[in-house]
Amino acid sequence: MTTGPLSTPPSEARNRPENPWWVDAVIYQVYPRSFADADGDGMGDLAGVMQQLPYLEQLGVDAIWLSPFYVSPQRDGGYDVADYRDVDPLFGTLEDAEALLEAAHGAGLRVIVDLVPNHTSSAHPWFTEALAADPATEAGRAARDRYMFRPGQGPGGAQPPNNWQSTFGGPAWTRTVDPHGTPGDWYLHLFDSSQPDLNWDNPGVRDEFEDILRFWLDRGVDGFRVDVAHGLVKAEGLPDHGIRPGMITDSGEDVSGHAEENPGDHAHPVPYHDQEGVHAVYRDWNQVLAEYSHEPVMVAEAWVSPLERLFRYVRPGEMHQAFNFTFLLAGWDAVRLSDAITVSLEEAGKVGAPNTWVLSNHDTVRHASRFGLSDPTRYPNGLGAEDEQPDEALGWRRARAAAMIELGLPGSAYLYQGDELGLPEHTTLDDALRQDPTFVRTAGAEKGRDGCRVPMPWHAEAPGFGFTLGTDEGYDAGPAAGTATAPWLPQPESFGAYAADRQVDVEGSTFELYRELLGVRGELDLGTGAFAWSGLHSPELGVLAFTVTTGGGQHGHDLDSGERVPEQVVLVLANLGETAVDVPEDDAAAIFSHHEALQDGQLMPDSAAWFLKR
Ligand code: GLC
Repeated sequence: MTTGPLSTPPSEARNRPENPWWVDAVIYQVYPRSFADADGDGMGDLAGVMQQLPYLEQLGVDAIWLSPFYVSPQRDGGYDVADYRDVDPLFGTLEDAEALLEAAHGAGLRVIVDLVPNHTSSAHPWFTEALAADPATEAGRAARDRYMFRPGQGPGGAQPPNNWQSTFGGPAWTRTVDPHGTPGDWYLHLFDSSQPDLNWDNPGVRDEFEDILRFWLDRGVDGFRVDVAHGLVKAEGLPDHGIRPGMITDSGEDVSGHAEENPGDHAHPVPYHDQEGVHAVYRDWNQVLAEYSHEPVMVAEAWVSPLERLFRYVRPGEMHQAFNFTFLLAGWDAVRLSDAITVSLEEAGKVGAPNTWVLSNHDTVRHASRFGLSDPTRYPNGLGAEDEQPDEALGWRRARAAAMIELGLPGSAYLYQGDELGLPEHTTLDDALRQDPTFVRTAGAEKGRDGCRVPMPWHAEAPGFGFTLGTDEGYDAGPAAGTATAPWLPQPESFGAYAADRQVDVEGSTFELYRELLGVRGELDLGTGAFAWSGLHSPELGVLAFTVTTGGGQHGHDLDSGERVPEQVVLVLANLGETAVDVPEDDAAAIFSHHEALQDGQLMPDSAAWFLKR
């Protein structure tokens, strides 16, 4: 059966009509709490996203991914869902979500929503029912079976069932109190104690999530970003594993200082990551999505290594994409980036899936700041005033060059809101304002993710940099827009210089850089081009150089005229080293170069250029 969604984006002409839209899509992550606040309460909302659609259209992305906007106590920024089928009043109503979908589709933008299947909020009716029910009864057992309840160890069951650690710090188990007031079983939470893990062996859990998929697909969403896709299934018997995993890294190295064990080494697999059983879930979901004719996509957030394991999530009949965190974690280092790109392309090729490329998201220190650290491959979990402060100008330059690498690569690319403004992390946020549960659960040892979630600056001169619009107009409303309501997290002073109104239509700005890169990428069809390292590639000298060949081949026909599209070769050259490098002037013309990148026939350090080979 094929079901038609309520609203669909217009079918735009693509050079390769047999490819689904997501194969080469550039997808922009909106973190709704911090994108734009239309109702003026200091918290972003769906109406705010709606207002800024023209901005996203101008930028030229293909789709947006919305981080969770569902009913939630917001203990983990919405990744603690209490009702998967409704919108939290903080962000608006279900009608607002439907209106946003329709407006986005009208603007030619696809919309992906976040799905959080590993855990619910402790405020979810299933969990409150499980806690309230008498575990000695059949009904109580059934309610608890949807989650991971276990008796404790030791005298009186006073010790947790095993030694698993929460990703956010502290034990992954919390003890319950039975309805009659005595200490009872423990429940598992890989994240905060307000995020109890679901039991994916329970058929009711599986049915519920298939139903949630259909709920949103029927409303026309174009796909799902699947949260913690590697975590749903736990190893039989829940064997001990005392190493706390790092976020995104899966290895625990750096962020938690547990480098002594690398769980990516399958001699010591993490019993709650990347278990074989997760794949059956995604095969089922793939079938659900296949019932719909508008090519919905599923993208895995899976902290899995090595890449060979990650690409098992995108085998035919499973997910369609997986975030490439190896690329993200490579940092600003030519050898690491070169390896990440090579292995990604190899592994993607083996399963016939497109690659994805991503530099930042709502869980990472923004790359414009990471790349300005003395070690630009470092991956700290947040930065605070007492930490090393990034070199902002250096990080900004590198971030712009990194965009030229990311958007030159074939496949699909994910941008995090603010990437297109060159936005840095807030690295001196007052600890008293931090909301990330990691900060509390590590007793402040890790600052956590608030610094990358600071509200967007729209107007340099407006209060709150125009984040709290309090108007129905978009950011074009002019510098008067913006109310006095303070944004939910304060922005650093420096954000004024990055504000959208200082960059849109301003030559040389980072926004215009992204806009032009996306334009050229689309025009030349780089996203479906063929990749090859160029002869100039020498990562040990800090030089990344690759070509992307587009057009020509069996697909290279213009859809309207049927005429053959000539083959084009684009050379992407990036200098991550310390000295200027010569550029190939004889057979290539620079089509695009990063501000002041090319001087006297040389490419400056920390910059990049695209060349069209003649
Ligand atoms: C994912 C999300 C992150 C969240 C966690 C728990 O990693 O990206 O923000 O805290 O899952 O849901």
